[in-house]
Amino acid sequence: MPLPPGEPDNPKAVAAWIVEQTQARDRFAHIYRASEEHRLRHGPDCTVYPTSSGPTLGTLAAVVDSKRILEVGCGLGYSALWLAFGSSPDGLVETIEKDRSHGEFARRHFEQEGYADRITVHQGRGAEVLPGLTGPYDLVFSDGDPDEYLADLDHFLRLLRPGGLLITSNLFLGQHDPNIPGLDQAAAYRLRILDDERLLTSFLPTGMALSVRRR
Ligand SMILES: C[S@@+](CC[C@H](N)C(=O)[O-])C[C@H]1O[C@@H](n2cnc3c(N)ncnc32)[C@H](O)[C@@H]1O
Ligand SMILES: [Zn+2]
Repeated sequence: MPLPPGEPDNPKAVAAWIVEQTQARDRFAHIYRASEEHRLRHGPDCTVYPTSSGPTLGTLAAVVDSKRILEVGCGLGYSALWLAFGSSPDGLVETIEKDRSHGEFARRHFEQEGYADRITVHQGRGAEVLPGLTGPYDLVFSDGDPDEYLADLDHFLRLLRPGGLLITSNLFLGQHDPNIPGLDQAAAYRLRILDDERLLTSFLPTGMALSVRRR
């Protein structure tokens, strides 16, 4: 039987269909674009790479029925907006950002989108902010630089509720640049989340890790 017109007929075409159709319906696409434009303006040290998984984050936040969400690596707020959108109607997101200017841009985006009362930015590095936080959180999204990943993981295990979800990005950055600080930590982190009996972990084809805190 002939395929329906436009039906993707190979893995590359399927991937292209998913990108095209989800991007066309991304409610925060303008924040994604603003993040990309910012990085090009800000200079070579800027690491504001908005996630390619915004709608996936929103879906996962909804699945977990999240009321309290924690993020490391706010950037300009694209992923935090998706997490807040997917969470319960009264769900709260706390996001940690080390770069003051990124935090300020993100706050403006949260106001502009009507989420200022549901998303809070903590200014500082995760390593500085995490020790002062108290759980439980329903979902944690880790999207910062990998150079403090191992210390952060101990806090995520402390802060996540049983049945809560840890989502980790930036675990395979060596494919883009061998000189990124913390690649050794990312490598050790990948194995720890697979081997730690408190977590049940799987990886998406993009390299993003999903780890459930076991009950
Ligand atoms: C990959 S971008 C985050 C993109 C954002 N999550 C999104 O999808 O829109 C990384 C951001 O995290 C910040 N960052 C990196 N390492 C951090 C850390 N250890 N603690 C706090 N912020 C960090 C960077 O300044 C940058 O703004
Ligand atoms: Zn920047």
